[in-house]
Amino acid sequence: MSTFFALLFWFATAVIVLGLAFKIRQYWVTPAPLKIPTTPAPTTQAGVVYRMAKEVIVFESLFKSNKWIWIFGWMFHMSLFLVLARHLRYFQDQPWFWVNIIQPFGKYAAFTMVIGLVGLFVRRIVVARVRYISAPSDYLMLIMLFFIGFSGLIMNYVSHVDIIAVKEFFNAWMGFSIGDFPVSVPLIVHLSLVALLLIVFPFSKLLHAPGVFFSPTRNQVDNPREKRHIAKWAAELENNSKG
Ligand code: HEM
Ligand code: HEM
Repeated sequence: MSTFFALLFWFATAVIVLGLAFKIRQYWVTPAPLKIPTTPAPTTQAGVVYRMAKEVIVFESLFKSNKWIWIFGWMFHMSLFLVLARHLRYFQDQPWFWVNIIQPFGKYAAFTMVIGLVGLFVRRIVVARVRYISAPSDYLMLIMLFFIGFSGLIMNYVSHVDIIAVKEFFNAWMGFSIGDFPVSVPLIVHLSLVALLLIVFPFSKLLHAPGVFFSPTRNQVDNPREKRHIAKWAAELENNSKG
């Protein structure tokens, strides 16, 4: 079991790191030939940073378009963020002070994370036009995250795991050696699904996380009159024809 999980996590980590690096590079070099920020849009670079921050932290455009999705979606994402921050302690010998401070919040965030996921799942089933456009992967993604959260809650409140042993296992794992895996059913379910999450991440809709930063409708400055917009490849073509 120890060898299995160590190998599985090395593999999953390699997939997500290399996969994301590849995808981000691809997004980076894809030209945006048109000036298409959704207006009203900021007219300065600082304004764009502010707009992106609002988009990522409070999901501004989702808020404007649909309050129900916003409530559940935002609740899920913010809780996920807290939960993941709380998880840093499994990978640190001496957790940073703020990781210690957020521990209790992270614990309750598991509930709001799961409630958010259930809300999003119900929406996919109940709202006819959302059901119509939902693919199996949309449901599976929510189910996978739900069971990660659910197994986490089980470990918290029903069948406790040896946290120190988990920490020792992952600290050894980070040093490329195989420690003793504290075998327990909820932990096996939790970590198997987490490995699945890491593996599917670079091939799935979860790419919206890095992708949002590359969205031209959000990241462009609204200054077409002040500065001519020209994609890099077009500029190169122009230079070549001049040359
Ligand atoms: C920069 C970070 C992220 C931002 C700004 C972001 C934002 C969003 C937004 C705006 C939606 C649309 C909600 C909707 O219309 O259904 C969404 C959906 C979703 N996000 Fe994220 N997200 C981020 C990271 C993540 C991560 C790290 C995960 C999971 C590991 C995740 C999982 C999901 C899932 C599963 C959905 C689909 C919900 C549904 O089925 O309706 N997101 N995200
Ligand atoms: C290698 C990565 C991970 C390890 C080693 C790990 C381990 C654990 C452990 C040992 C617990 C029980 C905590 C306790 O009893 O106090 C837990 C709880 C939990 N985990 Fe994970 N987990 C990992 C990744 C994730 C990911 C990626 C998510 C979310 C997508 C997640 C979501 C949760 C939730 C919601 C809980 C319950 C609340 C909490 O204790 O924070 N875990 N995890």
